[in-house]
Amino acid sequence: MKTVLSGIRSTGHLHLGNYFGALKNFIELQHQAKCYFFIADLHSLTTHPKSEEFHSNVKIILSEYLACGLDPEKSTLYVQSNVPEVSELYVLLNMITYKGELERTASFKDKVRLNPNNVNAGLLTYPVLMAADILVHRADWVPVGKDQEQHLEITRLLARRFNRLYNVNVFPEPEAYNFGNNLVKIPGLDGSGKMGKTEGNGIYLIDDQKTITKKVMRAVTDSGPVTPGSPMSPEVTNLFTLLSVVSEPEVVAHFREQYDTCKIRYGDLKKQLAADICKHTLPIRERIEEISNDNAYLKYVIEKGTSEARASACQTMELVRKAVGFKVFK
Ligand code: TRP
Repeated sequence: MKTVLSGIRSTGHLHLGNYFGALKNFIELQHQAKCYFFIADLHSLTTHPKSEEFHSNVKIILSEYLACGLDPEKSTLYVQSNVPEVSELYVLLNMITYKGELERTASFKDKVRLNPNNVNAGLLTYPVLMAADILVHRADWVPVGKDQEQHLEITRLLARRFNRLYNVNVFPEPEAYNFGNNLVKIPGLDGSGKMGKTEGNGIYLIDDQKTITKKVMRAVTDSGPVTPGSPMSPEVTNLFTLLSVVSEPEVVAHFREQYDTCKIRYGDLKKQLAADICKHTLPIRERIEEISNDNAYLKYVIEKGTSEARASACQTMELVRKAVGFKVFK
């Protein structure tokens, strides 16, 4: 059976992009592979979150993960910092990673540009910590978006380099996993591209009906089609993409026809879109509420997940320590 691993930083809430782009697909994947889902709280430290908020951020993501249907009886759910083997592997991998390789990473260059006053070493070595996350379970498949592909490439490089340097075959090279044809990129509501936390263009799973409706009604459109067959603006294309994800095919076809015959009223489309988004998210929202108040359940999930994750990580680290040459005094 293949091993799958996915991580998410503990900043902010899950949005529609996380749900339809990843989580919804994880639900089925849980039955087909050994899955590890973890919350990358160490990674989120690069931006120095307030310590009073640190734990509640982790708790939020965990509750939202569970509410979406990740099943602790099937998968291993854990928090990165609860598995110290990850940090140990990170130290060792840092020794075989070159500064230039990390400086060339697109995500690092972006962050330097956006935040020139916080170029810390954790930011530079972010991909090494991510490689440790993946390699500590010797994962085969990692579902990643475009923005993380380069990080996975570094992971493969480090796996090969470690194996070659120590003449072992400890690490498999993980592959990007993209759900075949199911991969949908969820656009934001501002016509700018994908839905994201930093972009501030998202609909969150915890949003109530009023908030969702308000956000959708405010989405950017254009002045409407003038002649049949005229090209669709990116903003309206995005609305149709969202509609195709949350609505019935007949509904999509109806609005498509209205558009093609230049009769479309964007207000109607948006009302329908908002209603159909709510149909998907409101039940999840209720479960988030329930789960986040059930401390005993959350404790159970994390204790179980931590012990499973550590068991797997310890097996790998035994091989790693042996390869590097650590020995106990006898
Ligand atoms: N860097 C990922 C992100 O920002 C989160 C992450 C950390 C991750 N470690 C990982 C994803 C390991 C996959 C595998 O989205």
